[in-house]
Amino acid sequence: MRGEPSYKDLRKLIIGADQKIPLPNGKYVTAINFDNAATTPVLYSVLKEINHFALWYSSVHRGGGYKSKVSSDIYEQGRAAVQSFVNSDKERDIVIFTKNTTESINVLSFVLSQQKGQQKVVLSTWMEHAANDLPWRNKFKVDYVEIDRFGRLSIEDLEDKLVKYRGSVKLVSVTGASNVTGYMNPIHKIAALAHKYGAKILVDGAQLVPHTSIDMKQFDMVEHIDYLVFSAHKMYAPFGAGVLIGPKNDFNEGNPFIQGGGAISLVTHERVEWDDPAGKDEAGTPNAMGVVALTAAIKTLRAVGMDNIYKREKALYDYTISRMAKIPGIKFYSDPFREDTIGVIPFNLEGVHHNLIPSILSDEAGISVRNGFFCTHPYCERLLGLSEHDMKHYFEDDEVVFPGMVRVSFGFYNSYREIDKFLNILRMIADNKEYYINKYSNDLSSYKTSNEARLCPNFPTRGC
Ligand code: ALA
Repeated sequence: MRGEPSYKDLRKLIIGADQKIPLPNGKYVTAINFDNAATTPVLYSVLKEINHFALWYSSVHRGGGYKSKVSSDIYEQGRAAVQSFVNSDKERDIVIFTKNTTESINVLSFVLSQQKGQQKVVLSTWMEHAANDLPWRNKFKVDYVEIDRFGRLSIEDLEDKLVKYRGSVKLVSVTGASNVTGYMNPIHKIAALAHKYGAKILVDGAQLVPHTSIDMKQFDMVEHIDYLVFSAHKMYAPFGAGVLIGPKNDFNEGNPFIQGGGAISLVTHERVEWDDPAGKDEAGTPNAMGVVALTAAIKTLRAVGMDNIYKREKALYDYTISRMAKIPGIKFYSDPFREDTIGVIPFNLEGVHHNLIPSILSDEAGISVRNGFFCTHPYCERLLGLSEHDMKHYFEDDEVVFPGMVRVSFGFYNSYREIDKFLNILRMIADNKEYYINKYSNDLSSYKTSNEARLCPNFPTRGC
């Protein structure tokens, strides 16, 4: 695609973008997906490549047949496509394919925990998804970089903590963009700070890589990114591939997190010789289909242009936020008029429980959003102003309905028409709260009282 692509061109790239779905009243409407931070739909180009590759599919690095060789080559070429997409240092870095971002961080935390040395501190932040918090907890001393009153990362506190733990910080582990507020962190500034104090940096790119261009930069630049992780299913390629990029040398020593065939070069009952990275950290049959899907998605996203994608989604964000701000009772949980953001808006509507809004939007207009804590509990708890005492109550009372927020998250294919529809329904709810609460209160009351309800897919999840 040359220049800025038109909305129509973008929409045509997505499978199911105009899919009709039934409402409870029997009418059919075109589904609207504003839950792209959770996962994205499939690109046509991805499915086309999957279908084409299926003709050639066979075992990767395990067979002598022609198709095995083709599959192995295509799988390996996927690493080069990923490296080039994020400009990782080809001399130094390797790409390890995983299942998703969560697995990538688990692998990295296990690998780093086996390294010798005095650096036993990991600085995570108050903004992190559970995937970039929990894997560090049982292996390192973890401290959390503060956020300001708008929920933005405090770079000042990061430096204070780097000074406080001087020489002991192994890693600063930070999200590239928040799945809750959409804030984009200044990753290169953070990288330069981390390096100044002898630490490395991991960027959780799950919410960043699909929405803007990323440059890991060359190793000799102080602001380079040491480790980057992301998921294909948030990049329009939901076929089970994830990515972990980092310096090859860091993966030479120690045991792999997942052990089995493919990770080994020679084994007896007494002795194991591990394969070289990346194979060492890719035990089991490699997900060739997933890598083909990711490679195809990268090709299409590059053709659209990552800067075009960022611009488009930011315009959708600006359009929505300025109109939502005029709806009485809307409460935002981040600075609505920020510049560095992906298309994510967390909010509540005063007087209407967050569990009800997704049901109303879905049943009235076929609009999908997510609510709750978005697997990012401490951050949401802070943004909602919940105290330790409040949290004790939520931990100890199994029947209580958790607080939370509602989240709208855009992809490049979303349209202003879809947003107008969402805004209309939101205004209707705001103007007729009693009516909608009564109409949908069964959702909330049965949710409160029934344990089975938690298992029912028609009900919002209790927490994560
Ligand atoms: N982390 C994903 C989300 O924010 C699943 O919804």
